[in-house]
Amino acid sequence: MDDLVASVISDTIALLNGRASFDLVADFTAIFPNEIISGILGIPRSDRPLIRQWTHDILFREEGAEGVSEKTANAYASQLGYFYELAREKREHPGDDMISSLTEAEIDEGSGARTRLTDEEIADFSFVLGAAGTETVTKLVANAAVLLHRNPEQRRMIVDDPGLVAAGVEESLRYWAPSHLQGRYTMADITLHGVTIPKSSPVFLITGAANRDPRAYPDPDRFDITRTELPVPVGFGFGVHYCIGAALARTESRCALTEILTRWPEYAIDEEGMRRVHMANVAGFSNVPFAVAA
Ligand code: HEM
Repeated sequence: MDDLVASVISDTIALLNGRASFDLVADFTAIFPNEIISGILGIPRSDRPLIRQWTHDILFREEGAEGVSEKTANAYASQLGYFYELAREKREHPGDDMISSLTEAEIDEGSGARTRLTDEEIADFSFVLGAAGTETVTKLVANAAVLLHRNPEQRRMIVDDPGLVAAGVEESLRYWAPSHLQGRYTMADITLHGVTIPKSSPVFLITGAANRDPRAYPDPDRFDITRTELPVPVGFGFGVHYCIGAALARTESRCALTEILTRWPEYAIDEEGMRRVHMANVAGFSNVPFAVAA
């Protein structure tokens, strides 16, 4: 897996060779996570730009609009239909990829009976994996680049000691969580801080705020890759729904950030030109104008 990640990231960044400036998101961080997860799933190369566009449309929300737009609903249906057809095809002609493995996987029902996943189940799972595995890494790596640009002494620390790149990724994940809120329904009445939330209520858990809780992190609004406190981090969620892609996300983010800092240790970012996304449950930048030297 590490080899796949390293080779996709280095191929993607190599396309920027010789350019003095580019958009870090559009030209780099939005591209490699989709390539990696698509490769793992077994999505043909020619279909990958379409998957990326659908994922964007699924997550995008118009400012001020309530509910889901027609474009979002259409992208959702198209992507799910695409994965359904792909699962059917892989069942007929399996390859060396995850969707093919899922068509062959057997589930032990506990009673000795073994069943197979249906094409609908494989489509649902691929859909979740594709969406969850792309936009979040896109945001985390761009966030880290912006934060290190704002904190050049910490950027220098990582350039001088590449072993610190992991700390840079973790602190970026804490400081600007790409997945900053999680939805739940309460399964029982629950009282927290003197307020009772009734059973069956929809609740937003603002994990992005938990990452800045002063009871857990001293001076929480300071970006600091040398933090040593170890509260339970919630950037990848917590408990039974903890991110199944956390290890992959960390590998991708460390590798991408290392590539950026190795190639362009003195990069500059035009913050005036930065734009934020407007997405359902992903936060970060859609555009980060990047110059290879300050
Ligand atoms: C920086 C990158 C990422 C961040 C910040 C992130 C964050 C999260 C968070 C906060 C959750 C918990 C959601 C909840 O509690 O409702 C989650 C779940 C999940 N993530 Fe990630 N994720 C990242 C990358 C990935 C990648 C690369 C994959 C796929 C390979 C992935 C697949 C998933 C899946 C399938 C779930 C649902 C798990 C479940 O409900 O049991 N994520 N992620």
